[in-house]
Amino acid sequence: MASDNGPDNLVPPPQARAEAEVTPEDPGQVAPFLDLAHLEARARDLLPPDVYDYYAGGSDTETTMREAPEAWRSYRLRPRVLRGVTQAQLGTELLGSHVRTPIGVAPWAYQGMAHPDGELATARAAVATGALMTASTSATHTLEEIAAEADGAPQWFQLYRQHSDAHTKDLARRAGDAGYRALVMTVDVPLLGRRHRDMTNAFALPAGLRMANHPDADGRRPALTELATATWTFDDIARFGEVSGLPVVVKGVLRGDDAVRCVQAGASAVWVSTHGGRQADPAVSSTHALPEIVDAVGDDAEVYADGGIRTGADVLTALALGARAVFLGRPIAWGLAGGGAAGVAQVLEGLTEELAHTMVLCGLDDVRSVPRDSITAAR
Ligand SMILES: Cc1cc2nc3c(=O)[nH]c(=O)nc-3n(C[C@H](O)[C@H](O)[C@H](O)COP(=O)(O)O)c2cc1C
Repeated sequence: MASDNGPDNLVPPPQARAEAEVTPEDPGQVAPFLDLAHLEARARDLLPPDVYDYYAGGSDTETTMREAPEAWRSYRLRPRVLRGVTQAQLGTELLGSHVRTPIGVAPWAYQGMAHPDGELATARAAVATGALMTASTSATHTLEEIAAEADGAPQWFQLYRQHSDAHTKDLARRAGDAGYRALVMTVDVPLLGRRHRDMTNAFALPAGLRMANHPDADGRRPALTELATATWTFDDIARFGEVSGLPVVVKGVLRGDDAVRCVQAGASAVWVSTHGGRQADPAVSSTHALPEIVDAVGDDAEVYADGGIRTGADVLTALALGARAVFLGRPIAWGLAGGGAAGVAQVLEGLTEELAHTMVLCGLDDVRSVPRDSITAAR
């Protein structure tokens, strides 16, 4: 058992939840457990249809997106018994920063469409629950405003390459100056995926919201063209790491050979992701790419995963396959839409509690050491 196994790292009991730190709104939760399907249905009722579609949708046939949760469920738990385990230690270190749960917030764009406080509410919930938040380049608040919510807690900044190299460098530099602990370079968007729902809806950022990190943002540039369409190369890893002064996480890697090249090029971590099924489609799931990548990089880098993670057992499966942490996209959007910061905290705490529970049922006491033989392919 590691030295920092203090009470701080144990999942908080329900009565010690984060209500004190975040303003409770009505998250609309009726079940006495985390009911993500209900939260999504509620968000769908609350949001304009094109906004719901933007959050919920994937690219092309949406096969990658649809298969993501199924891929985690293609494994089964192999519980250990008689191990005397009654509590699970959930705290871990991500690039040297301590977090209270291995479940973090993935970068996702335009959170101001889900709730007026947008990324600020998400940041408050992450701080309150001890989860790591990654702020997106395409945020509706500036990266400095989001960092101001951190209150000393670790946050990461996700960087998209911009058409202008000077602008990209400026964002990287600002992230370092604002106190972010890592630069997450998203590399799976050389072009935006063909998102049929957004094309049909002619989706654009609603009036009154803007991509706050861009000095030239006029507030209403269509989303289909505003994301970076300038591609990175391996050389950029060291270059932007240096500009920001931060360790680099490369997000959107699905192959072992690419992961090795990222690490050789200076990456401290690799984030296995299909971008929530919004880019190449049909692509291999994060679940099935993960073991190859973990084996390829060995101890040379940390490995994280996201995509379709919806239950504590999904998280445990990812940890068993070698991920050090996992990240959530859409479930955070549904929480934010339904209940602001309280809704996001409810999702993060609910899933963390599920993980703690599943760990104990499987005789596992520490998220930092979940053996691969804790799971097996479903038959
Ligand atoms: C609405 C939405 C917006 C997103 N925006 C970004 C983004 O700005 N930058 C990025 O690196 N990934 C972005 N992603 C991908 C997420 O970081 C993450 O990889 C994905 O959502 C995980 O899958 P999940 O939604 O099934 O949990 C976005 C995903 C969604 C659903």
